[in-house]
Amino acid sequence: MTFSRIAGTGGYLPERVMHNKEFEKLVDTSDEWIRERTGIKRRHLAADNETTSDMGLAAARKAIDAADVAVSDIDLIIVATTTPDKVFPSTACIVQRRLKLHTIPAFDIHAACSGFIYGLDVANRFIRTGGATNALVIGSETYSRIIDWSDRGTCVLFGDGAGAMVLTAAGEPGIMSTHIHADGAFEEALHVPAGISSGYDAIRTESAFIQMKGHEVFKKAVSTMGSIAKETLSANNVDKHDIAWLIPHQANLRIIKAAAKKLDLPMDRVVVTVDEHANTSSASIPLALDVAIRDGRIKRGELLLFEAFGAGFTWGSVLVRY
Ligand code: ACO
Repeated sequence: MTFSRIAGTGGYLPERVMHNKEFEKLVDTSDEWIRERTGIKRRHLAADNETTSDMGLAAARKAIDAADVAVSDIDLIIVATTTPDKVFPSTACIVQRRLKLHTIPAFDIHAACSGFIYGLDVANRFIRTGGATNALVIGSETYSRIIDWSDRGTCVLFGDGAGAMVLTAAGEPGIMSTHIHADGAFEEALHVPAGISSGYDAIRTESAFIQMKGHEVFKKAVSTMGSIAKETLSANNVDKHDIAWLIPHQANLRIIKAAAKKLDLPMDRVVVTVDEHANTSSASIPLALDVAIRDGRIKRGELLLFEAFGAGFTWGSVLVRY
């Protein structure tokens, strides 16, 4: 039986840092309000000429180095993003070209903030069925391009960045289970209304920016993070107290705290990076994971739970023995 295990991770945050205080000049808000309601202190913003593939590639190179595999050993590339460089080709194809790889499958996954979990689910299935041996999974987002900088309810919440992981075939798990879900009934709760088939005209209007019913998203995120954890633990017959680390989607510290509480996990067993980079959507879980692996908190053999929730709504989890 073939399983997949985490061989290496990498992260990338753009150079430009925007502190909460800077928003005080843009909208009616304060550093104090943002910290209290979200836990966010700052976020990174891509440079004008910096794209999702630039950031994804930087994170990918670090993950490949950490995995100690050759670039030429990568045989699958999945990029989770809602902010691709181009309408087509996919950002995964652009990354593939820049890694000087040819012919291996490369495609994007669009599942908003749950994108990285969806990517891991798919990569794990490829590896388990013999379709790949070393899969590169990237979450990369340039949300600064779809932020309405005059809407205080959303502009303070997001940032840019990328995270990546190399998943490698192994004789034992590794990934113990993946769980992904969606419910399109909540389409308008969190969306960017403009799109390609809706017509390019909308791209130059406010429809091209994030619109969110914050309260509704908050409530649903908290309840869903609880139910997905339950589903994952019971599928594996694992007790919540066996989880060494929770690595949740980094959207809002209050959502993260609520998720930890449901698992009886003290906050020193939860990886929190939302203060440093705000919500980077599909990049947030691999970014947080990479930080805690590199600073030595997460050790080989420990049981990790990843949980995500995002627009769609989409949600999902991965239980993994690191
Ligand atoms: N600064 C100051 N005041 C603000 C700001 C701001 N940046 N944003 C909203 N307010 C105001 C509102 O206008 C409202 O004012 P009113 O009472 O005069 O109408 C007041 O603050 C309270 O608004 P609420 O929406 O009730 O505030 P809440 O405590 O729910 O916090 C927040 C708002 C932070 C957006 C919260 O609802 C939230 O985090 N929702 C989840 C959003 C999220 O994480 N989305 C990301 C994508 S999905 C995901 O990744 C999970």
